[in-house]
Amino acid sequence: MQVVHTAADLRAALAGQTATAFVPTMGNLHAGHVSLVEQAKRHGQPVVASIFINPLQFAAGEDLERYPRTLAADCEKLEAAGCDLVFAPDVAEMYPVPQMFTVQVPDSLANDLCGAFRPGHFAGVATVVLKLFNLVRPRVAVFGRKDFQQLMVIRELVRQFNLPIEILAGATLREADGLAMSSRNGYLSAAERMQATQLYRALTEVRTAVEAGEHDYAALCANAVRHLKMAGWRVDYVEVRDADTLAPAAPGSARLVVLGAAWLGTTRLIDNLDFDLPAAARA
Ligand code: PAJ
Repeated sequence: MQVVHTAADLRAALAGQTATAFVPTMGNLHAGHVSLVEQAKRHGQPVVASIFINPLQFAAGEDLERYPRTLAADCEKLEAAGCDLVFAPDVAEMYPVPQMFTVQVPDSLANDLCGAFRPGHFAGVATVVLKLFNLVRPRVAVFGRKDFQQLMVIRELVRQFNLPIEILAGATLREADGLAMSSRNGYLSAAERMQATQLYRALTEVRTAVEAGEHDYAALCANAVRHLKMAGWRVDYVEVRDADTLAPAAPGSARLVVLGAAWLGTTRLIDNLDFDLPAAARA
């Protein structure tokens, strides 16, 4: 496995490669990231991973400075997973001049759900992913369903800019107690870590009720928010949405997703569960 840090070295390493599968990350890799690399590998093409903590997608006061930087350990995991090439640029390499051109994400995606609480976040994600796509020029790219709204943003980016890249979605890997794996789980104290599974459980309860035919999604979500708050969480949102459009679930929506974002202390966690609604349970 080769590790390169500059666009020039990346170009040299990719010379002659017409088709690669790409997994962009911010590093501090866990088994969820590794599963995306394995999925990319199964595609049968050389796998390129990137490790870049993108300042553009962090708002002032977020965790840019404390985001864990663990390049050596990350490279070991990537090599073990069969990754062929790692692109790990620094900020000056990705942004040699201030990034004045950015991707404008439509309001319906940019200002909804996580976007409502993280202004500019999805524009920052879309902009860096477009740059990474242009640098790596992959045929396939793999993103996790864990960041469901991000996956929607990337799919629309690719569609609306006619990028010749197939986007694959990877399942969310979880810890034994259900907590979705995340680099941010490392911020949790031992007590918070014990509690963290409550978010997954709250979303699971909403899904179970919806599958059982409960139609008052707003009441279910309000109930989940109330329980989380009582347990000490600060809740940004719990919502039931159409899994294909992310619009509020409409009568007849056949694929749904329950999404939640909430804070334990100074750590913001997100999770979601997407599922097919049994015909008998449709509103
Ligand atoms: P990062 O948070 O490092 O995540 C990299 C990829 O891993 C994303 O596609 C994310 O959805 C996926 N992922 C995270 N946790 C996962 C889990 N538990 N199971 C499966 N996949 C998981 O997402 C980003 O970085 C950045 O926004 C990026 C796309 C790299 C742009 O900067």
